[in-house]
Amino acid sequence: MNRSADNGIQEIFSKIPKTYDLINHILTFGLDILWRKKAAKLARKHGGERWLDVCSGTGDMAGSLYKAALPKTRIVALDFCLPMLKEIERKPQGKRVSLCVSNCNALPFADNTFDVVTISFATRNLNIDRETLLRRFGEFRRVLKPGGKFINLETSQPLAKWFREAFHWYIALMVKPIGYIFSGSKTAYAYLSYTIPRFFPAQELEKILYQAGFKKVDFSQLTFGISAIHTAVK
Ligand SMILES: C[S@@+](CC[C@H](N)C(=O)[O-])C[C@H]1O[C@@H](n2cnc3c(N)ncnc32)[C@H](O)[C@@H]1O
Repeated sequence: MNRSADNGIQEIFSKIPKTYDLINHILTFGLDILWRKKAAKLARKHGGERWLDVCSGTGDMAGSLYKAALPKTRIVALDFCLPMLKEIERKPQGKRVSLCVSNCNALPFADNTFDVVTISFATRNLNIDRETLLRRFGEFRRVLKPGGKFINLETSQPLAKWFREAFHWYIALMVKPIGYIFSGSKTAYAYLSYTIPRFFPAQELEKILYQAGFKKVDFSQLTFGISAIHTAVK
């Protein structure tokens, strides 16, 4: 199932774990930290004892969840790229978050396991095509308990045309050179700069979440629509 696309993505991320966080903070002027914090607050509001962060990468979202969670909450961070996931072990959340290496096509958990499933800045990577994204959202839904919440933080498309164009210019001009300077990888950041302008506007992603079987889908746009948090209920 999309094995070659997934292999390519895995390879890209295995080249950049050490500099991934720094480049995110530089490119977003630190806003990514605030956006993840906001998503984690929504998880806290929902509550429950078992949370899963899929496509967790170096664990920054898992870290925000860890700060927002009550002590009884158990958090699992899942990713199919071990070098990215291993970075979590060096962070404070490394002691409280369980790591799981898996492709999110088939999550190694029983139906109805989690109260909350989160994903941040990775839905673009799962969107090999619309069918694949729908299937993967369906898999996240499967492992949520009935009434459980899915929280999706991702770059989006600003509504104002002039701002959207300026954002796309910024991505085209800055992501590749900054990514290359700090990580040494041209391909990784070429890939990121390709996916951001092509991702769905928030309203379209809302429709896809309904199509995947979720209920009560809602979204809030962040920083003039550069990013958006979607929430959806099983
Ligand atoms: C852009 S990073 C996002 C990391 C982190 N969530 C964040 O907020 O910075 C995308 C991550 O998704 C992972 N990923 C992409 N496709 C995946 C898949 N099919 N299954 C599991 N992980 C996947 C990659 O390995 C990478 O670590």
